[in-house]
Amino acid sequence: MNDGGGLLETGDQGRQFDSLGKVLVIIPTYNEAENIQSIVGRVRAAVPEAYVLVADDNSPDGTGKIADELAVEDDQIHVLHRKGKEGLGAAYLAGFRWGLEKGYGVLVEMDADGSHQPEELPRLLTALKGADLVLGSRWVPGGRVVNWPKHREFISRGGSTYSRLLLDVPIRDVTGGFRAFRRETLEGLGLDEVASQGYCFQVDLARRAVKAGYHVVEVPITFVERELGDSKMSQNIVVEALWRVTAWGVGERVGKVGKALGRKPSS
Ligand code: GDD
Ligand code: MN
Repeated sequence: MNDGGGLLETGDQGRQFDSLGKVLVIIPTYNEAENIQSIVGRVRAAVPEAYVLVADDNSPDGTGKIADELAVEDDQIHVLHRKGKEGLGAAYLAGFRWGLEKGYGVLVEMDADGSHQPEELPRLLTALKGADLVLGSRWVPGGRVVNWPKHREFISRGGSTYSRLLLDVPIRDVTGGFRAFRRETLEGLGLDEVASQGYCFQVDLARRAVKAGYHVVEVPITFVERELGDSKMSQNIVVEALWRVTAWGVGERVGKVGKALGRKPSS
């Protein structure tokens, strides 16, 4: 691996995040052959010191093979080949394990389809200097979505509001997938117990971070709907999110009531 050791680079903007440790941008893919080359190139241009890990679920359209070709050309690009489609959550968990094992200081989540703009990544990383976890957020002032069908905006806003209220998590965009974690934060979240497969994985990690007392910061982003390929959003993903979020919320409430009942009256 090229760690950029040796000569001091001066005057470029290539190494402004050194204090955070090595940055790994994890990009989960399933059938993103039309997008993968462009997104990886944009990441490498936007944050030249960042490394990329493509976590591909054996995409039938050959995304993994294209990623391999990119990795041959550039030693800051890596590919994690997984045996089949197991969901966004499982792909990220595998990517996080890989990155933590290799000693990266920052692990970034980013979609492959261009919805998360690599050019905004420096803003997330800058915010991470004063935080444990940074969430790219569509629903804070300054954040927005471009070209999203009304029904998607409805599901996303509704899902965020439902989760925020039920889970008592003060985050506006709790389902978003453009995030930067310090490695210590990920290590403190209990990743081994995460069972979420679909997009509720994002809610799961956000709620764990808040409950664990980490400093979570939302940074406004512009989310641009993909132009190529298809969303993997499905009814199953919505159903999983609904039942898991509801179960977490109810579980917490039962826990709180139990604690209150068990507490001895103070004199
Ligand atoms: N490896 C792998 N396995 N990757 C997957 C899988 C999977 O099973 N499912 C989806 N992905 C990848 C896609 O290839 C893409 O790079 C990224 O995950 C996001 O998938 P999309 O299908 O483009 O998601 P979306 O645009 O509908 O949803 C966006 O909004 C959700 C709700 O806010 C994303 O930002 C999600 O992260 C977010 O939760
Ligand atoms: Mn998308």
